[in-house]
Amino acid sequence: MGSVSLLSTVARRLEGKVALITGGARGIGESTARHFFKHGAKVVIADTQDELAHSVCKDLNSESASFIHCDVTKETDVENAVNTAISRHGKLDVMFNNAGIVGVVKTNMVDVSMSEFEEVIRVNLVGAFLGTKHAARVMKPARQGSIITTSSVCGILGGFASHAYTSSKHGVLGLMRNAAVELGQFGIRVNCVSPYTVATEMSRNFLKMTDDEIRSGYSNLKGAILTPEDVAEAALYLASEDSRYVSGHNLVVDGGHTIVNNGSCMYDNPSVYGL
Ligand SMILES: NC(=O)c1ccc[n+]([C@@H]2O[C@H](COP(=O)([O-])OP(=O)(O)OC[C@H]3O[C@@H](n4cnc5c(N)ncnc54)[C@H](O)[C@@H]3O)[C@@H](O)[C@H]2O)c1
Repeated sequence: MGSVSLLSTVARRLEGKVALITGGARGIGESTARHFFKHGAKVVIADTQDELAHSVCKDLNSESASFIHCDVTKETDVENAVNTAISRHGKLDVMFNNAGIVGVVKTNMVDVSMSEFEEVIRVNLVGAFLGTKHAARVMKPARQGSIITTSSVCGILGGFASHAYTSSKHGVLGLMRNAAVELGQFGIRVNCVSPYTVATEMSRNFLKMTDDEIRSGYSNLKGAILTPEDVAEAALYLASEDSRYVSGHNLVVDGGHTIVNNGSCMYDNPSVYGL
């Protein structure tokens, strides 16, 4: 084998795998679908935005990239998406529960209606539950698989988003840990990836900032900006055999944002410490 073909074999970390990606029509999900595809996976994008998803598949221009309409809040849609991955490709190796919304953002909890709160929980938490459940349904008999859910730094910290969003992202971490315990018995790994702010439609709409402002962020890691591709790379690690003994883990991709309280950090406020 020549050095070039050896390199391409080594580099394709999902060769022969089948991955279903919810929220894959744009943003982090789209980036992950493209990355998984590049690494040899057969990718099925499950999203409500048919046109966008079709254009991603058209761009990839391969039978290995396809779309299924799926609203993750509807169990029949999620069940159908999983069954479609099986009927198109014969198995499901990777489930990426990535679809998410920010929902209505209000600073006063008293003004938040129950339906506004529930809408976010339905997509971000119930959607992840349904994806995990139906992936488990087909992965259990196969006694293998990797289930990944997108949480957030808001799954660790309070005060960065709405009560509903923060609750949903904390919730998927609990779901992931409980599912990892049950499904580990069947050789199925369950993990989360938790990004800091990434410049996507979601964060642009929510933060009302320019991409540069979003990217400059508050991370203590300087000299790097977080991109959707960085999150896709973390998801690739959790999807691939590189993480074969990693389960019940929350892979935080935040440049160290959540490990420090900037308000009382001695490097930012040396005088407080008499330094
Ligand atoms: N962008 C960020 O800064 C950031 C940070 C941390 C976590 N996240 C999480 O990453 C994930 C992806 O976010 P993004 O930034 O790429 O957002 P995005 O808005 O660009 O993409 C979200 C995708 O999810 C799809 N979607 C929404 N509701 C759906 C539903 N009911 N059924 C199926 N698909 C649905 C949308 O159509 C869209 O394609 C979300 O779970 C989000 O909470 C984002």
